[in-house]
Amino acid sequence: NIGSETSKGYVLVTGGAGYIGSHTVVELINANYVPIVIDNLNNGYVEALNRIEVITGFRVEFHKIDLMNEVALSQLFDIRPITMVIHFAGYKSVTESVSKPLSYYDNNITGTLNLLKVMQAHNVKNIVFSSSANVYGNAETVPITEDLRHAATNPYGRTKMFVEAILKDQCISDAEWNCILLRYFNPVGAHPSGLIGEDPHDIPNNLVPYITQTAIGKREFLSVFGGDYETPDGTGIRDFIHVVDLARGHIAALDHISKNPGCVAYNLGTGRGYSVLEMVAAIGRAAGKDVPYKIVDRRPGDIGVSYADPSKAQRELGWKAVYNQNDMCEHAWKWQSMNPNGYRDAINNELYGAFRIH
Ligand code: WQD
Repeated sequence: NIGSETSKGYVLVTGGAGYIGSHTVVELINANYVPIVIDNLNNGYVEALNRIEVITGFRVEFHKIDLMNEVALSQLFDIRPITMVIHFAGYKSVTESVSKPLSYYDNNITGTLNLLKVMQAHNVKNIVFSSSANVYGNAETVPITEDLRHAATNPYGRTKMFVEAILKDQCISDAEWNCILLRYFNPVGAHPSGLIGEDPHDIPNNLVPYITQTAIGKREFLSVFGGDYETPDGTGIRDFIHVVDLARGHIAALDHISKNPGCVAYNLGTGRGYSVLEMVAAIGRAAGKDVPYKIVDRRPGDIGVSYADPSKAQRELGWKAVYNQNDMCEHAWKWQSMNPNGYRDAINNELYGAFRIH
């Protein structure tokens, strides 16, 4: 596509070798954008880019650049006609952010400031930002709409809140700047091919990778954090969204950003919640085995019920989630069972030959 008349332009993807980034790169290619990936590989994998090539037939341009390195970033903008940025790169663990706040503020905020300074110097004024439903904190009402007051309850969520505010100020300062803030609910699942997916470095913090690792025998049992919430089965309810739907939300945002929207926030969720035990059961069905679990105390800081009102994204971006809970769980299981050790498994040509998209 590069240089072809049909291409919709060069998009810099920060954090493009990570979980959500890699799925978005696939959809960018499918939608005729030309992605250029940068990643410091803290949480990303070059192997993900190899597999994107298998899925799409397109070798993505990659540079190992850390956003703390403003000079390297600026040099990339010097040599590539980038017109849009999707900004995923950042630390993402709520628990870790509580014990390492300075490192979270430094990396997530300074990294973004460096990016914005370089964009400004190169006259690049369109950015889609990877924000989080975490900015809403303990929302008192569901479904959650975008106008709800921001009240993040941990340093991770506050980095997202602060970056949103910085982006808003930047758009106010110059009407040519456009920024779309995408607030993700709970991204889960994997590409239907099973070739790319979520690969936590350590013991997973998030529910779905913990369940799939338990189903495959890497963990003994799932600890269900709290069985006494005010929900039908007593366990927490979340708006799980298939990562491919989420990725497509970024394409809808880019397609919209050329209409000069200013700074606008959108929830990306399905609008419906599933409980922890409903997810355990669905992954058990996909894996064809019961997943052992124990109900334990609530996890500090957790809320009972969270789900989105995603109607603004549908109205204004024409985007809507299409995958259902079974798809999310089947694809999460396919990724886990094809890659028991994530990207660390040796590349297996047989695996590539056998993959089928359905
Ligand atoms: C989901 C549910 C847990 C693990 C966090 C961030 C959020 C977003 C996604 C980035 C809860 C329960 C979990 C386990 C369990 N990330 N659970 N046993 O907390 O909704 O959201 O990740 O932006 O910002 O806050 O996601 O997957 O950790 O938990 O019972 O071993 O599963 O209590 O009800 P969460 P999660």
